[in-house]
Amino acid sequence: MAKKAKSVFVCQECGYESAKWMGKCICGAWNSFVEEKIPEIDVKDTRRRAGSAAGSANVGVAAPLRDVGTGEYTRVDTGIGELNRVLGGGLVKGSLVLISGEPGIGKSTIIIQAAANISSRGEKVLYVSGEESEEQIKMRADRVCGDISGELYILAETNMENIMAVCENLQPSFVIIDSIQTMYTEEIDSVPGSVSQVRACGNILMKIGKTWNIPVFIVAHVTKSGELAGPKIVEHLVDCVLNFSGERDHDLRILRAYKNRFGTTSEIGAFRMEEKGLQEIHDISATFLDSNDVKPEGSVVSALYEGSRPVLLEIQALTSPANVGFARRTAVGIDNQRLSMILAVLEKKCGLNLMNQDVYVNVVGGLRPDSTSVDLGVALAVYSSLRGVACPRRVLAVGEVGLTGELRSIRNIEKIVLEAERMGYEQIILPAKNAAQIKPSGTCKITAVNNLSQAIGAFKE
Ligand code: TYD
Ligand code: MG
Repeated sequence: MAKKAKSVFVCQECGYESAKWMGKCICGAWNSFVEEKIPEIDVKDTRRRAGSAAGSANVGVAAPLRDVGTGEYTRVDTGIGELNRVLGGGLVKGSLVLISGEPGIGKSTIIIQAAANISSRGEKVLYVSGEESEEQIKMRADRVCGDISGELYILAETNMENIMAVCENLQPSFVIIDSIQTMYTEEIDSVPGSVSQVRACGNILMKIGKTWNIPVFIVAHVTKSGELAGPKIVEHLVDCVLNFSGERDHDLRILRAYKNRFGTTSEIGAFRMEEKGLQEIHDISATFLDSNDVKPEGSVVSALYEGSRPVLLEIQALTSPANVGFARRTAVGIDNQRLSMILAVLEKKCGLNLMNQDVYVNVVGGLRPDSTSVDLGVALAVYSSLRGVACPRRVLAVGEVGLTGELRSIRNIEKIVLEAERMGYEQIILPAKNAAQIKPSGTCKITAVNNLSQAIGAFKE
């Protein structure tokens, strides 16, 4: 592998490469360029053409798409239902999965649990840690995994060449790298965690995954702003990007996929961090709703559909007279722009005067619903707080608010209605178009409305 080193300037924020040093990167970061020596790409590297049918080392042959076999992916069950679900049904053999999240959120915990489950079926698992000693990992495993199988191997190592050699000897069926920012390869002389190191290590890990057709799980840290630290590049390289989030002082943890080559990205997995590791939450709606009581003023229950299941959640709003200057609009859990739009519709179409009111909206439980189906819930919560009226029944409100004040239908309404019935709701306020799609079961009153004013009428009735 004859390689001539060449040097480039790499932005440590976004990975942008430049032949000369720049004060400001195209991503907007200042002073982020660091000179790094990168080896030239080895033209004989056949890894880039893993699927090539050509016998020759250098020439690839294109295959007609029609003749390409689809082949079912072989999936590895991680023994954690919520993790399997987010992955799209388990770990795909030969795939690279990146799990990111703030320090202390529980990344090492979830993977040691998955590792223990897989190894308990008699499959060899290699857990490589560059952050903790073998004893520390053992202590955590003792706490969360119960019986540890003899097939779970631990390696405290940061040198990729050594890791590769261990894989060669051990032939594991699942490899975990905790974390990629601590790993380095001898091929490159920049520090671990730098863009070129992370990229090179990512390439080696891909080689490990593809060579032995095993899943590789990679832990990556995120920066304070929630971006993957340094390497956007690894995101492109891997097959799945999972993010683990939650508030440190809350025990709720949400796992979601930002990229998934083998499944959807709309699934979420919910966990609770407990004394004995992460416990799966199956009844997710019950988690976000505190009690079965009627809600006080300023609080409305809404719902959205995440991946393959409905989630009911509580939205709270508070309006209070603004003192000086512009009134404040603060949203936690929903988009600020979206809130401004809903407030404008409430003012113009429903005659509410919000100009001199500070408005605060919060989604209870730390969930960030990325769906317009909670719009109506937000609007009614604001109305409820402003007017000081609470709905005397257990009511659920869903629907997208349009700029003309109309209510637009949302997806998967049948499943949301079923969930609301299961949770004992007495009334559901929903868009008229959606009402036509469901068969009322009788236990729950369905109120179909065309616009926001009608919804407010139904709410305060
Ligand atoms: P960890 O998995 O080490 O986080 P990460 O790898 O993302 O940095 O989890 C660390 C936190 O989780 C730590 O603050 C303690 C807490 N924790 C529990 O509450 N219960 C447990 O069983 C474990 C293992 C950790
Ligand atoms: Mg860790």
